Amino acid sequence: MCGIVGYVGTDHAKEKIIDGLKRLEYRGYDSAGIALPIDGKIQVRKAVGEIKNLEAKIASPDFDAPMGIGHTRWATHGEPTELNAHPHLNMEETIAIVHNGIIENYQEIREWLATEYGIVFKSETDSEVIAHLIGLFYDGDLLEAVNKAVAEMRGAYAVVAIAVDEPDKIVAVRKDAPLVAGIGKGFNFIASDIPAVLKYVQGNIYLIENNETVVLTKDDIVIYDENGNKVDREIYVVDWKADSADKADYDHFMLKEIHEQPAVISETLMSRLNPDDSIRLDDISLTKEDIDNFNKIYIVACGTAYHAGLVGKMVIEKMAHIPVEIDVASEFRYRDTFIDDKTLFIAISQSGETLDTLAALRDAKERGARILSVVNAVGSSIARESHDVFYTLAGPEVAVASTKAYTTQLICMYLIGLYMGSTRGTIDKDYYNYMLGELKALPEKVSRVLENEEFLKNLAARYYFKDNVFFIGRGLDSGVSYEGSLKLKEISYIHSFAIAAGELKHGTIALMDSESLVVALATQDRLYEKMVSNIVEVQARGARIIGMAKEGRTEIEKTSDEVIYIPQCADEVAPVLAVVPLQIFAYYVALERGCNIDKPKNLAKSVTVE
Ligand code: F6R
Repeated sequence: MCGIVGYVGTDHAKEKIIDGLKRLEYRGYDSAGIALPIDGKIQVRKAVGEIKNLEAKIASPDFDAPMGIGHTRWATHGEPTELNAHPHLNMEETIAIVHNGIIENYQEIREWLATEYGIVFKSETDSEVIAHLIGLFYDGDLLEAVNKAVAEMRGAYAVVAIAVDEPDKIVAVRKDAPLVAGIGKGFNFIASDIPAVLKYVQGNIYLIENNETVVLTKDDIVIYDENGNKVDREIYVVDWKADSADKADYDHFMLKEIHEQPAVISETLMSRLNPDDSIRLDDISLTKEDIDNFNKIYIVACGTAYHAGLVGKMVIEKMAHIPVEIDVASEFRYRDTFIDDKTLFIAISQSGETLDTLAALRDAKERGARILSVVNAVGSSIARESHDVFYTLAGPEVAVASTKAYTTQLICMYLIGLYMGSTRGTIDKDYYNYMLGELKALPEKVSRVLENEEFLKNLAARYYFKDNVFFIGRGLDSGVSYEGSLKLKEISYIHSFAIAAGELKHGTIALMDSESLVVALATQDRLYEKMVSNIVEVQARGARIIGMAKEGRTEIEKTSDEVIYIPQCADEVAPVLAVVPLQIFAYYVALERGCNIDKPKNLAKSVTVE
């Protein structure tokens, strides 16, 4: 969602800020802005739309300074307009701020500032109140003014502020929104996300914790806790290569990330296996006693990560014989759940910053659950607030539509299921060895699926104009149907709908006619016959069918107009192979329709608001 970059050094702040904002572009935004202190005044430039529109407005060499702050905004309060874009100024234009998050009591503060102090607001945003509050409390010390302003605010925020009277200093504060400081030599950065600063600071960063305030000058970064005490923070060294967020020879990050799947699946899996094929969870503190003690598991996540959880539920129940409930985080937070110290709570998140998932985790933790998170972004809030973290080694995922994070999340689900199953004695050695063999074969099998790209591209060319697409499946295939449907709708804007195939005749089949396209997944041997019956039902209503089955299951050709084959495999691991053609199909449909594939409209990569 919104991105923040602040720089304090000796020269050309605008170049570094713009570069950092571009590295956060993939998260989604609709306007951008930058503020620099120049000749005793804070000068702000803003533009709606892409960062290049902002670049055009700051091209003049006169618009430059050794420090400044920038922001990409994803509209929540108020339309995406220049007035609503950040940075925001106080009335005297002596303070500028950028903000990620939501100020829940902004209406109250707005009214108070307007009535008591005659402050006139220029934007419709919640964020503008922060600039006015800091301005009100400013008396030559920006840190003090920020602290006083924060005391008035409720909500979630990462705020970065500058004052015209202290042009060598940036002050930032965080509560429930990510913030990192990048440690340079003779310069320093503050940013909402690591990729923005990685290149400049050789991976050396400080992770800023909740309720901490940071003061940055070009030579120093000082972190204070909520009581104003200095914090001695260890440097966190990030080993991601700064250039790993490059498209290489691909037209889009999404396609590149789809093709990275054999490698990242292998890495996620092999990093967890000992030479004797036992699962290595040495950094995870779950003992046999803990595992035996659990009588319930909640898996909680959003979007694609939730879809990985749907598969995870079935896999863990099958292997570990523990009841697993799965919920989207925004629902979990507000329902009555049964959590105690016998509950294992598994949060799944690529970004590790999704606010609903984080809030659900905190709630479960407070009520005594053991928290295990499956996260991709190292050092993210969800990772830090969990008792244990199982990292997906997918590397940075840049395309908004998640692909490689999903398949690596599935690998984690299998490993968790197998580990718990073997610890609890609910699976035997033969099954364990068989499943490990199946998992190890996945990278090569995914590569074979990727070789089908041309076929899938042609398929997309034949169906890209459809208005309605249905994804159906049974068992594990139903989980994959949801993900296939989400991929298609989010990047191609085609209306698509996923449903467990057995549920079709309870209503949804009423929508089927000769215009419908149905993607029918039949990869589960156990449910194959039943699935074919469901395909026949929709075929009888005139729908076009793209069937999917394992190689050798050629009977499906009788009931499908097109067939996608995936390599033979155990039913359990079929989701990893089944989702890949659906990702590629969605990609080429979106390409045919001329969509902005890596940055679909209205979507953000990291959803840090409720
Ligand atoms: C869809 C997609 C989203 C995310 C969801 C959760 O392709 O990427 O549905 O899966 O916003 O995000 P994380 O995994 O970062 O918690």
